This record gives sequence, C-alpha cells and structure tokens, in this order.
Amino acid sequence: MEKEKNTLTITDNRTNQSYTVPIDKGAIRAMDLRKIKTGPDDFGLMSYDPAFMNTASCQSSITYIDGDRGILRYRGYPIEVLAEHCTFLEVAYLLQFGNLPAEKELKTWVNEITHHTMLHEIIKDFMEGFRRVSHPMSMLVSGVAALSAIYPDAKNVLDPESRLHQIKRLIAKMPSISAMAYRHTLGFPYVYPDNDLSYTENFMNMLWKMVEPKYRAAPELARALDVLFILHADHEQNCGTNTMRCVGSAHTDPFLATAAAAAALAGPRHGGANEEVLKMLDEIGSKQNVPAYIKRIKEGHSKLMGFGHRIYKSYDPRARIIKWTAEQVFQVTKRNPRIDVALELERIALEDDYFVQHKLYPNVDFYSGIICQAMGFKPEMFTVLFAIPRTAGWLAHWDEMMRDPEQKIARPRQVWTGEPERRFVPITERAAPALV
Ligand SMILES: CC(C)(COP(=O)(O)OP(=O)(O)OC[C@H]1O[C@@H](n2cnc3c(N)ncnc32)[C@H](O)[C@@H]1OP(=O)(O)O)[C@@H](O)C(=O)NCCC(=O)NCCS
Repeated sequence: MEKEKNTLTITDNRTNQSYTVPIDKGAIRAMDLRKIKTGPDDFGLMSYDPAFMNTASCQSSITYIDGDRGILRYRGYPIEVLAEHCTFLEVAYLLQFGNLPAEKELKTWVNEITHHTMLHEIIKDFMEGFRRVSHPMSMLVSGVAALSAIYPDAKNVLDPESRLHQIKRLIAKMPSISAMAYRHTLGFPYVYPDNDLSYTENFMNMLWKMVEPKYRAAPELARALDVLFILHADHEQNCGTNTMRCVGSAHTDPFLATAAAAAALAGPRHGGANEEVLKMLDEIGSKQNVPAYIKRIKEGHSKLMGFGHRIYKSYDPRARIIKWTAEQVFQVTKRNPRIDVALELERIALEDDYFVQHKLYPNVDFYSGIICQAMGFKPEMFTVLFAIPRTAGWLAHWDEMMRDPEQKIARPRQVWTGEPERRFVPITERAAPALV
C-alpha cells in the first residue's frame, strides 16, 4: 500500500494513456518520462528546465539548505554551531569525510595540509607572465589549472587514495596561489608559507609580510577570516559546484575541474556581488540618503545589492554571523563607516512592505565586503577569498560524485528549435541572408 502511495500517475492527453512512475525522496526520475510516447517513433517525453530551476542532478549528503526557514547545515551540523566552535580546516575535514575529526585525526589533517602549501617554483615564473593590472581571479584560475601540468598523477581520478592526495594539495595550495597573485599586482616579492602558522594566519602572512622576520596576524582578524572561510566552504549545488561536478564527470583531473569551478565563481552573478555592495554603499554615502535610495529601488531603477537570494526566502543565516563578526573585526581595525549605512539600509528595508512581500532579506554578501575591506583586502580580492574556502566544498562534491555509481558524464538534452534538413545550395547560387 505504502509503495503505491509513493507514485505519480500521469495521463498523456495526446494518447489518453496513463503512466505510473515512482516518487523517491520527493523526486521522480526524468528518465521515467521517456516511456511516455505518442508512438514507436517518438523519442519520448523530456523535461525542459533552463537553469536547473527544479532539477536535482545528484543525490548528496554534504550540505542541506532550507531556504524558507533560513537553515544551512554541513553534514547535519548547523552553520552557526560550526562557525562558533570550529576552525576552517576542521570544517573542511567534516565536508570531506562526513564526520567531525577527533583530536588526533584533526592534528594529522592539519599537518598534512600544512605540508602541501609550498608551490612548485615554476608557478612563480608562470605568474611573472601576467600584467600587473590582471584581476587576481584570472591569475588564480590560470594558476590552479597550471598545477595540472605539474601533477600528472592527478589524472588517476579512479583511485580514491590519489584523489585524497590531490584534495590535500588543492586545499593547501589555494591560499598560496591567491597570495602570489595578489602580491604580483602590487609588485611585491612573493612570500613562502610558514608552517608554524594556522591556515588563515599563514594566508595573511603570504599576503602581507614585509621585512619583519616573522609575521604575526592579529588573532581576532585571523579568527574572523576563519569564520568567513567556514561560512563560504559549501553551499550545495550552486553554479560553481555544478561546474565542478560537470567537468569532473568527464574524469578531468581535479586541478582543471577546480579551475573551471573557480571560473564560474568569478562571474558577477555568482561570487562578485559583495564588490557590488561596496559600490552601492559608496553611492549612497550616508545614512540620511538611505530612504531616497530605497525609494529608487522600489521604483525599479536597480536592485538592492546584497539583498535577496534564489534559495533563501528568509534571513540568510550566514549574513547574521557575518554581521556579528563585523563588530569583532572593528574592535581591532578602524570602524568601516559603510557599516552604519548598511545597518540603516537593513533596518528600513526589513520594515518596508516591498521587501517583506518579496521576501527579500540580507544575504551573505551584504556584510562580507565591509569586513574584508576593514581587514585590508582590496575589492578585487573578495571573490578570491570566497574561492579559497569553497575549494573544500567543490572537492567534497567531486569525491562524492566519483564514488556515486549512478553518475555518468554530465550531458543534458536540448529541445530542438532549428531548421529541419535543408538542401545545400552552392555559394554562387545563394541569396544574401537577411541580417538578424
Ligand atoms: C540573488 C538574486 C539574483 C535572486 O534572484 P531570483 O531568485 O531570480 O529572484 P528574482 O530576480 O526573480 O526576484 C523576484 C522579485 O524580487 C525582486 N528583487 C529580487 N532581488 C531584489 C533586490 N535585491 N532588490 C530589489 N528587488 C529585488 C525582483 O525585482 C522580483 O520582483 P517582481 O516579482 O516584482 O518582478 C536577486 O535577489 C538579486 O539580484 N539580488 C541582488 C544581488 C545579490 O545580492 N546577489 C548575491 C546573491 S548571494
């Protein structure tokens, strides 16, 4: 009885035939639609879903989001709890292996990641080829792809041990390449990793060390960066993660697949929104100008940057943590005056009918740019700061996909809208085509 209940019956009005397909975990299998045909020559029914608005491409046990209730969990743990109690590398372990590490496992994991932070010297030469004005994301994407040439063993993607080796290399080397790209834009000498330091302290060391014998990051700032990294570590099947899975499904090596995922993240619709928030706050200028700006948004002149989300229809839980972290950061750095404009924007927007009715709340990008700027990061580095921790998520998804016996090379279908077969006309007989 229970079995029959978990089914869907579809009637095809073209043929008056009914079909029953199973429902599993709230989904039907798109392939079950193929048996719905008008005749033996019919290919069978497909589902059409541009931008995957309602299509699950995999089964996953890594990250859970309930957008209506503002819930984000990694492997079952609420993001708030992880941000309060864990380090980024602890969370990276959780994403990768499914459980929080015991003390000994964490020590070994941190030690292994730390010992893979060095880059092959050839990457230095490679970096030198870029113009100084290059965007750090362009250099990061190219640098990660170049690692594929340095580690040909990474092509052994069917070997779980080799996969884990590459995962450690990638998590370890992302900050090193990112810092190198940043210093290249400034014309500063590259800084080698310091194995005494934590993951985020070492990243700050590679970014900002000058002539002092040992770089010491302010502990509050290193912790704030760690929290930021935890919040960005994964977000289920977003554009970059989907790219990682898609490219990885061709059994491409993980350095190239990660470069592709980072390329997706580089787009302004994906990882670039926090930069836009800063521009918007500068345009508003001061708290007094907020009501007029909100009025313009409601008149449809532009969107309120850092507000709204495809999945979250309530407060993005990450935005709440970042807002709190911002106050911690300002205890050490100068208070970023943009925070007052942002707080006023949030206050007015959350009371406004337009935003309430459209379920528009602050997302993760609303406050993250303000913190990063206060910490000394240039806006061009914001997406890089997102790519470093997201690498842990991409790789967890890549490994999950490689272990999934149902996964094949990703290859969507299309709904054909072109011409039927046409007769070839020799060039001397062709009329000029109408310009479109
Ligand atoms: C994130 C975003 C792309 C989600 O888009 P989406 O799920 O496709 O939602 P839509 O663009 O269809 O928006 C639905 C409605 O809310 C409105 N809306 C969405 N975000 C808005 C915003 N930030 N400011 C004002 N109105 C907004 C749309 O105009 C639309 O209104 P309508 O139904 O009256 O036409 C969108 O909210 C946005 O552009 N936000 C600003 C950029 C940003 O912060 N991006 C970072 C995301 S982490």
